[in-house]
Amino acid sequence: MLITIDGPAGAGKTTVSRILAQRLGFRYVDTGALYRGIALAALDANIDCADDNGLETMLKDLAIGFVVRDGITRLILNSQDISDSIRTPEVTMAASTVSARPVVRQYLLTVQHALGSEKKAVFEGRDMGTVVFPGADLKFFMDASVEVRSMRRFNEFKDQNRQSIGEVEADIRRRDKNDSTRTVAPLRVAEDAIVVDATDLTVDQVVETMLKHARQKLSGVFG
Ligand code: DC
Repeated sequence: MLITIDGPAGAGKTTVSRILAQRLGFRYVDTGALYRGIALAALDANIDCADDNGLETMLKDLAIGFVVRDGITRLILNSQDISDSIRTPEVTMAASTVSARPVVRQYLLTVQHALGSEKKAVFEGRDMGTVVFPGADLKFFMDASVEVRSMRRFNEFKDQNRQSIGEVEADIRRRDKNDSTRTVAPLRVAEDAIVVDATDLTVDQVVETMLKHARQKLSGVFG
């Protein structure tokens, strides 16, 4: 069984996907991390995030994937652990730009299909249910108001004092626009997705809602 969770930045997908996967004994795959990894590689190599030729050449020699160390999933790029360095505001914005490039999406489509071959996984991203796994067994679209999403993101990084709430909200609005207006695989709700508006829900409430659907599905699949 394969579960997909799509939705805009800051909706709480990562927290929820991780817990859902844990409760079901499934693997969790954060596909946004892959786009961030490509963005970091481009920034490090001084390649413009919109330069298709430069990106294509870079991707030819690139190896990106996840490994589990001491029970924690790490992102590895050309044998270097980049799990922490992909979380800066610079990489975040660059990831939004590279994710609009067809050459990058095509490259990561292959990577994601290979990761999905095992099943029993929760895939989190923007186009999981629409493009990457249109045949997924269970699809969720998790949303929340832009104000709530900005506040959650701000609280997440507050200790590092990197951005004001206004800057966080401006970045989120810019990313919403980039992610939903790009020509290739824009963020949209799959026809057969269950929409969960998390604006007024706690993490537990969202997880319980999703678990209910997952158990129903599992009893249908295996019962
Ligand atoms: O979920 P995130 O913030 O880590 O994602 C980083 C960027 O990657 C985001 O701007 C959108 C893009 N992305 C995408 O286009 N498709 C995905 N499946 C996952 C992320």
